[in-house]
Amino acid sequence: MDLFGKITVITGANKGMGKAISKKLGEMGSTVYMICRNEKKGNDAINELKMQNPSLKLILKIADMGRPADILQVTQALYKELDHIDFLINNAAINLERSDTRINNLSINIFEETMNINVRGPFLLIQYLLPLLFKSNDARIINFSSGLGQLTVPRMGYYPAYSISKTTINAITKNLAHELKDAGIMVFSVDPGWVKTDMGGPEALLEIEEGIITPIYLVTEKKQNLQSGEFYKEKEILGW
Ligand SMILES: NC(=O)c1ccc[n+]([C@@H]2O[C@H](COP(=O)([O-])OP(=O)(O)OC[C@H]3O[C@@H](n4cnc5c(N)ncnc54)[C@H](OP(=O)(O)O)[C@@H]3O)[C@@H](O)[C@H]2O)c1
Repeated sequence: MDLFGKITVITGANKGMGKAISKKLGEMGSTVYMICRNEKKGNDAINELKMQNPSLKLILKIADMGRPADILQVTQALYKELDHIDFLINNAAINLERSDTRINNLSINIFEETMNINVRGPFLLIQYLLPLLFKSNDARIINFSSGLGQLTVPRMGYYPAYSISKTTINAITKNLAHELKDAGIMVFSVDPGWVKTDMGGPEALLEIEEGIITPIYLVTEKKQNLQSGEFYKEKEILGW
């Protein structure tokens, strides 16, 4: 698929799935604004990807998604450079919990940090960037969720703060899609599956290239084949 002229903004792009998606969309011709919290890690990622393919249009932006002032500042920088955004991919997230963390021993600091980065960050970025998304004729917002955020299935694991944060991002997807239903901006949640990244760990079932299949599908598939306000996994709509 040809994404020449399309503008992508993606968070958490210096490693894992964010980096792989940046590469893939860049190869399809999109200009990709990669929001990373660490300048060196961001530059290293971009240099590595450009070494493999010098024609990639990858641009580093620095913001810690847990800090509202950073999000405002990066947004202001994007407004100076761009007249529209086509794809906003809220990929950055943390899971700081140990496997024995439960609600009754979860520290409020970890709960707040998780919610700040995984929920408040994407919420603010969406809010600030919506006017630029309105200027696209095919805007899409893709929020990274997780099977741990699903409420309609038996619990698959613990990690309560992470799990609650992903349920909340699903609620943002649902509400926002409803608000934007006549505006032409599509909004999705995606569960990439259990993927071998620093977060997923080495035991995970999927390679990174497999984990990004559905997020890339949500960017590239014809909009008439997609349903805004839904939760996708393996290119299919998943129960909430
Ligand atoms: N891997 C899985 O099995 C799995 C399963 C379900 C859902 N997911 C979701 O998929 C998405 C991508 O995960 P991944 O597995 O690729 O994780 P990853 O390899 O750990 O990468 C996470 C990325 O987010 C960035 N990040 C974290 N906190 C940030 C902050 N405050 N500001 C800016 N960037 C920040 C990290 O930057 P640093 O390098 O600076 O830390 C890194 O670039 C996440 O939303 C995750 O919850 C993953």
